[in-house]
Amino acid sequence: MPIQYHASSKTFHLFNDEISYIFMILANGELGHLYYGKAIRDRESFAHLFVLQARALAPVAYRDDLSFSLEVIKQEYPSYGTGDFREPAVQITTSIGDKISHFIYKEHTMMEGKPRFDGLPATFSDGGEAQTLAITLYDELIACELTLYYTIFHDLAVITRSSRVENKGAQPIKIDRLMSTSIDFYDNHFVMMQLDGAWSRERHVQERPLLNGIQAISSARGASGAFHNPFLALRRPQTTESQGEVYGFTLVYSGNFLAQVEVDSYDVSRLLLGIHPFGFGWNLTTNEHFQSPEAVMVYSDGGLNQMSQTFHQLFQDHLMPKRWARELRPILINNWEATYFDFDHHKIIAIAQQAKEVGIELFVLDDGWFGHRDNDKSSLGDWFVHKEKLPQGLSALAREIKALGLKFGLWFEPEMVNEVSKLYRMHPEWTIGVPNRHKTYSRHQYVLDFSQAVVVDTVFTMMDKILADGLIDYIKWDMNRNITEAYSASLPADRQGEFFHRYILGVYQLYDRLITKYPNILFESCASGGGRFDAGMLFYAPQAWTSDNMDPIERLAIQHGTSMLYPLISMGSHVPTSPNHQVDRHTSLAMRASVAYFGTFGYELDITKISADERTEIVRQIAFFKQWQSVIALGKFYRLESADPNYYYWMVVSQDKEQALVASYKILARANPALKRFNLQGLNPNLLYYCPERELSYYGDELMHVGWLSEPEFTGMSGTDKGDFTARIYQLLAKK
Ligand code: DGJ
Repeated sequence: MPIQYHASSKTFHLFNDEISYIFMILANGELGHLYYGKAIRDRESFAHLFVLQARALAPVAYRDDLSFSLEVIKQEYPSYGTGDFREPAVQITTSIGDKISHFIYKEHTMMEGKPRFDGLPATFSDGGEAQTLAITLYDELIACELTLYYTIFHDLAVITRSSRVENKGAQPIKIDRLMSTSIDFYDNHFVMMQLDGAWSRERHVQERPLLNGIQAISSARGASGAFHNPFLALRRPQTTESQGEVYGFTLVYSGNFLAQVEVDSYDVSRLLLGIHPFGFGWNLTTNEHFQSPEAVMVYSDGGLNQMSQTFHQLFQDHLMPKRWARELRPILINNWEATYFDFDHHKIIAIAQQAKEVGIELFVLDDGWFGHRDNDKSSLGDWFVHKEKLPQGLSALAREIKALGLKFGLWFEPEMVNEVSKLYRMHPEWTIGVPNRHKTYSRHQYVLDFSQAVVVDTVFTMMDKILADGLIDYIKWDMNRNITEAYSASLPADRQGEFFHRYILGVYQLYDRLITKYPNILFESCASGGGRFDAGMLFYAPQAWTSDNMDPIERLAIQHGTSMLYPLISMGSHVPTSPNHQVDRHTSLAMRASVAYFGTFGYELDITKISADERTEIVRQIAFFKQWQSVIALGKFYRLESADPNYYYWMVVSQDKEQALVASYKILARANPALKRFNLQGLNPNLLYYCPERELSYYGDELMHVGWLSEPEFTGMSGTDKGDFTARIYQLLAKK
C-alpha cells in the first residue's frame, strides 16, 4: 500500500521504492510537513522528525507553550494570519472582509487510481498504477472545506497534488489564492533552476542559488508563456546531469501561474506553485467549489537526466492522449517559411509533390488559407476557405494532396480575431477588452473571449465544418498574442477575478470537444513557437511547436532546456532553409537535420527550390530518421555532461539498451583545442556495441566510464572536424 495512515501518530506516509512523502496532523489540527525525498522505511510514528523550537518574539498558538509557533513549524498547506508571516498556499476573503482562515483536519479517504476533475487537464492512471489520498480540512468560522489531493504513482518518483475549496456556509467567500502545491523544505541549500526566454529563444536554462526572501517566476499574460515555463527545479549545488538530488515541479496548466520559493530567516525554503494570485479572485456562494489545477512533483537522486526521464515517462504514459503517446509521428513538411502568405493551389501541390518524392509523409498548410488572409492584418476568425487563393476549395486541395499519398494538416488560430473579419463585424463584443477603454493591439489581432460559452461554441462550429469531410489528419493550433485589458463582458464586476481562469477553461473545452469528436487528428499546439509549451497543453495536443527559431545552433539551447521535462516525442522540430530566417545564420543541411532528429522531425523550407545534392541528402536523412524514429520517440534521452558550452552532447538509448544514437555538436571552431571526451550513459555495461561510423566496437562500460573521444579538431596540422557549426551522429548497435 503506497499510502499509509498511522492513526496512533496521526501520520501520513506516501511512498514507493523511490520516494517518501510524510506529514502529520499537528496538535492544533493543522497539517505539519515532515519529509519529502528519497524513500525511507515506513514506521508507526515519525513524530521525532517534528521539532518544536521556542524563538524570541514568535507568535504562539497556545499561551502556555512558547514553542508551538506557525512561524517556525514546517507546514503542509499554510494559511496566513495566525502566526505564519510567509506567503501562504491558501487565502480566502470572508464575508466580513478579513482574510484569516484556520483549516483543521476533518477526515481523509484513500482511493485506487486518480479522480478526474472536470474541465481541467491532469495526469491519469487507468488501473493499479497509482493511489490517491484526499484529506479534508475545515474552517468552522467561515464554514469552508479545503480538500488536499495527493496521488503517488507506484513505479515513478512522482507525486501529484491539487486543492479544492468548497463553501459550506450561508455567506459568500472569495478565494484570493489557492496554490496547487506547497512544500516547506528543511534547508535552503539549493540552486533554483528555471526555463526562461522570449519569442524565438524559449526555455533556456537559468540558475540561481536560493537566497533569503522570495525568488519567483510567473506569468500574468493569460498563457504560460515563452518568458518563463511553468517549471522550477531545486537541485543540490553539486547535482549534475548524472548524479545528485533534484526536485522538479510543474503545473498541468496553461494560464497564469506563480512558482516561487521563499527562504525564511531560519533557512526553511517554502515552495509554492499554482495559479498566479495576481489579479485572481474566485467567488464561492453556498455549496460552490473551486478546484485548482494539478501540480506534478518529481524527485531524483540520480541527477537531472533521471528527473527529466521521470517527467518524460509520466507525460507519455499518463498525460498525453493515449491514442498518440506511443504513436510514431508522420514526418511533415510545413509551407510557412517556404511561402509565408504567398501561395496558391499550384504552389502547394508542387511542394507536396516534391515532398512525397523524398519520403515526407504529411503536408501541413500553415497560415493564410482562410477568409481574405494575405497578410497578418485580416481574417482571423473567418474559418472558411480563401477563394481567391484556393479557388478549387480546401477539400479539393486536401484530396489532391492525399491522392499523392500524403496526409494533410491545417493551421488554425482559434482563439483570435482580426478587426478586419466577418466575425469581428458581427460580434465585436466577443473580444476581450474593457468597455469604453482602448483595446491594445498585438500582431494586429484581438483575443476572443473564450470565457463565454457562445464564443467557444461558434469557433467549434466553424472548425467542425472544415473537419467534417474527414480529410484532415493534423491540426496546428496557433496562438499569437497574450491578453491585455483582461475583462469579460459576460462576468459581473465582482467576478472579473475569475476571467483568466475561465478563459483557459474555454480553451480546454474547445480542445476537448475537438479531440473527442476527432480522436484521429494529431494536434500540435503552438504559440508563436513555444509560447504555451506546458503540461496542460500536452494533455490535449501530444506535441508542441518548440520554437519559431529553427536555426540549429539556437535550437541546441532551446531543445536542451525543453528536454528538462518534455519528451522528444512532444517536441516539434523542423529542418529549415539556410541562411536561417530568425538569425540569418548559414549552416549545413546535415547540421540542421542532426538537431531536428531529436524531436518529431520534419522540414520547413521550399523543397521546390533545392538542388539535386540537397534532395539526395534529404532522402538520406529521412531514411536515417525512420530507421531510428522508434528509439528517438520511445527510448531514453540523455543530455551528456559538457564542461564547455561550445559543445553539446545528446544521446538516446532504446529501452532494451541494444541501440543508441549519440550526437555531438560543436558551435564554433577553436584553434588547436584539446581533444574532447564525454561519458555516455544508459548503456548495458556488458554489451559490445558496434559503431558503423567508426567501424569500431566498444563495450558499454568503456563508453560510460572511459568515455567517447571526439573526432580531433583542427590543430594547425591535422584534424578532421574543421569549421563552425558541425555535428557528428554516431550509431551504436549491440553485437549479437
Ligand atoms: C506563428 C507560428 O509559430 C509559425 O510557425 C506560423 O504558424 C505563424 N505563426 C503563422 O502566422
